Amino acid sequence: MMPWVLQIPLLDLIIATPAHSQSHTASRAAQIKHSTVQNRSVAPIMAPTSSSELLQAQAELWCHAFAYLKSMALQSVIRLGIPTAIHRCGGAASLSDLQVALPVVPASKWQSLSRLMKLLVLSGIFREGEAGAYCLTPVSRLLVEDDQDQMACLSQFAVLATSPFHFGASQRLPEWLKNDDASSETPFKMAYGAGFFGYTSRDLEFGKLFNEAMSADSRFAAEILVSECGEVFAGLTSLVDVGGGDGTTAKAIAKAFPHVRCSVLELPQVADTMPEDSTVEFVAGDMMEFVPPADAVLLKFVLHNWNDEDCVGILKRSKEAVSTREPKGKVIIIDTVAGLASKQTFEAQLLMDTCMMILTKGEERDEEKWHRLFLNAGFSGYKISPILGCRSLIELYP
Ligand SMILES: C[S@@+](CC[C@H](N)C(=O)[O-])C[C@H]1O[C@@H](n2cnc3c(N)ncnc32)[C@H](O)[C@@H]1O
Repeated sequence: MMPWVLQIPLLDLIIATPAHSQSHTASRAAQIKHSTVQNRSVAPIMAPTSSSELLQAQAELWCHAFAYLKSMALQSVIRLGIPTAIHRCGGAASLSDLQVALPVVPASKWQSLSRLMKLLVLSGIFREGEAGAYCLTPVSRLLVEDDQDQMACLSQFAVLATSPFHFGASQRLPEWLKNDDASSETPFKMAYGAGFFGYTSRDLEFGKLFNEAMSADSRFAAEILVSECGEVFAGLTSLVDVGGGDGTTAKAIAKAFPHVRCSVLELPQVADTMPEDSTVEFVAGDMMEFVPPADAVLLKFVLHNWNDEDCVGILKRSKEAVSTREPKGKVIIIDTVAGLASKQTFEAQLLMDTCMMILTKGEERDEEKWHRLFLNAGFSGYKISPILGCRSLIELYP
């Protein structure tokens, strides 16, 4: 069951006109100006006034400036297999249990590793149990790689996000913000000389890392999608997963709902390398030119890679692909609707937005931005179900 949904016929909604926004801005500016004149002697807001406030501010600054070291500590324990080792010890492991389980770490490094674990306990990745044992938390449970286990694992996603590829591109952000020429389209392109999806085929190590990360994310999301959102697929006989990667999501849908014939549209560099599969058909093509017809088009984690103009084009082609299948034809989007969330989820969404700024020409959109895209692509209504944590499921009607 969906906890709650927003169902909106597009034509019923009134979008604020520029004139309305401008007059609002103008009157707010007048208020601010007025209060500035009234309060000339007030000290600048937020300036630390005592030594203790200054020192507190310094501690906060250290935390922000060194935040990437949490990512590096996280990547280290994933690569060493520590969450899996703790899981195999029954969910709690002492340092000596880990020493037995992980002979790859030399004796000289255990002291250093215990210092990293202290940071990760403080960050909530692990928890300290009885007699100083390290225990899994819900976060590190997501990093357990165990073939015996039925639970989805997100360690490959975290390895990609903390990889030198992402880190190298993010180092170009300040330079990119000052630059306006075509070669500096994204910080990623400045760092590696190619756009993101071009580079996945050019650098095999990066391509493999990216595909494994997307596949891990899809296993995670598909588990929730098929168990919680069955009604979304009711009555459908065919679905095409556009930009569907290695077909993990399409395969999960085909398995859970055998009445839906699933295919995947992917770039030739991806589709042509996929092994024959009896449940899902791979179609090599370019979504910027063509979307194959089906009852439903799925766009999971795709539109946030593209700017508004490209998104409207993809959505128009998706609308054409499903329109003839009315009344059941629809487009299903899985992506962030920024802001429909707790503070922590919103922070995760803003970090993903910054990641999109660095890697692609896309962004994480709030509902107003989605609304404008849907209107420009000619759709008649949509329904947002915020049921996938940081992301929502959006059903879009032609
Ligand atoms: C961020 S990934 C998402 C993959 C998959 N939907 C998922 O959620 O795991 C975006 C996908 O779009 C594919 N893609 C990029 N440009 C494309 C295009 N022009 N036509 C078809 N697929 C494209 C990429 O190869 C990649 O697999």
